[in-house]
Amino acid sequence: MKQVKKGLEGVVALDTQISFIDGVHGILKYRGIEIEKLADLSYDAVSYLLIYGMIPDAEGLNEFSRELRKERKVHPHLLNMLNFCDFENESLDALRTAISVCAHFDEDSHDISEQANFRKTIRLIARFPTMVAAFYRMANGLEVISPDPSLSHGANFLYMLRGSRPTELEAEAMEKDFILSAEHELNPSTFALRITASTLSDLHSAIISGLCTLKGPLHGGARKGVMDMLDDIGSPDNIAAYVQEHLEHKKRIMGFGHRVYKTYDPRARIYRDIARKVAMEKGNSHWFDLAREIESVMYHEMVENKHKPIYPNVDFYSGVLYKDLEIPSYLATSIFAIGRISGWIAHCLEQYGDNRVIRPRAHFV
Ligand code: CMC
Repeated sequence: MKQVKKGLEGVVALDTQISFIDGVHGILKYRGIEIEKLADLSYDAVSYLLIYGMIPDAEGLNEFSRELRKERKVHPHLLNMLNFCDFENESLDALRTAISVCAHFDEDSHDISEQANFRKTIRLIARFPTMVAAFYRMANGLEVISPDPSLSHGANFLYMLRGSRPTELEAEAMEKDFILSAEHELNPSTFALRITASTLSDLHSAIISGLCTLKGPLHGGARKGVMDMLDDIGSPDNIAAYVQEHLEHKKRIMGFGHRVYKTYDPRARIYRDIARKVAMEKGNSHWFDLAREIESVMYHEMVENKHKPIYPNVDFYSGVLYKDLEIPSYLATSIFAIGRISGWIAHCLEQYGDNRVIRPRAHFV
C-alpha cells in the first residue's frame, strides 16, 4: 500500500472544467474567468456560467433569470414542516431537513436524466433563499414574506429576510456574497457530494451530503465562527489576548488559514472591499475596524513566532459583511449554501457526465 496522505493533502482526485485555483499566487477562476471579473456580474449569470460552461448572452440570461424567478415559491407543506425545526443554534440543520422534504414534493426527484437534472437545478437554486428567509422569519415569530420576482437573487433574499427592500449597495453586497461563495473546486462539501453523485444517487441526496459537510466549523461553519468570535472579542483592547491565548493552546482562529491558498485568498480581498463599503454606508465601521485589527495582530503574531503567515480566508470578511447586514450568526452557514448551490450542482452534473464510482482504499494498521 502506498503512503497515506493525511487529509488527502495534495492528492488530485479528478479532472474538472468548473474551476481552477493557484494557491501560491492567490488565483481563482470559474470556467477560466478570474473571480475579480465575475464578482461584478449577477449571481444568475455566474450560476449559468457554472452550470452551462459559458457566460450567457442577454437573451439567455433573461430566460434563465425568468425561470429562476418563477420557481422561487416553496410548497406550503414545507413551510408548515419548518415550524418544527430548531434553528436557534445552526439554521443549516433546518435547511438540510427542508431539502430532504423538498425531494418528496419534486416529481423529478429520482430521475437523474439530463433534462430532469436541469429542471431540478432551477428549482433548487431558486428556492434555497426562500427557505432560509422563511425559517428565519418563523423562528422570530414574523410573517413569512413571499418572493418578489422584480428583484435580483441577492436583493430578493434580503427583502424576504427583512420585509423591506435593501439599499442598492446591500443588494450588490448580497449578490457578490453569493458569487464569491458559489464554487471552490474540490473543497470538502463538493468532494462529499461528488462521492454521493458517483454512486448515481439523485441530486437532492447529493446536495444533502454537501450541506452536512459544509456545516463543520473547519469548512463553511467557520463563517458563523467568525461572527461569534467578533462578538466574543468585542473591543480592540481584547484582540491581542484572544489571539495569543488561541495560538498558545493551538486553538483555531476562525476565518484564517487554508489548505490550498498559501497567500491571501482572492475572495477575502473582494469581501473586504464590499464589507468596508457597507460599513461606510451604515456610518458604523466597528466590526470592520475590529476585523482589520484582528488581521493585523494575527499577522504580527505569526511573524514574531517565526511561523508562516496565516491569511484570512473566504469566511473572515464575509462574517464581517453579515454583521453589517444585521444577519444573525446562526444563518451564516445556510447563506453560504445559498451561494454554493450552483457550484455544487455543476459538480454533480460533471460527475454524472463522466462517472466512475469514487472508492479509495484505506491502509489497515
Ligand atoms: N488558527 C490558528 N492556527 C492555524 C489556523 C488558524 N485558523 N489555520 C492553520 N493554523 C496552523 C496550524 O495550527 C498548523 O500549525 P503548525 O504548523 O504549527 O502545526 C499550520 O497552521 C497548518 O495548519 P493545518 O491544520 O495543517 O492546515 P490544514 O490545511 O489541515 O487546515 C484549515 C486548513 C482551513 C482547516 C485551517 O486553516 C483551519 O482550521 N482554519 C480555521 C477554520 C476556517 O476558517 N475554516 C474555513 C476554511 S476556508 C473556506 C471554507 O472551506 O469554508
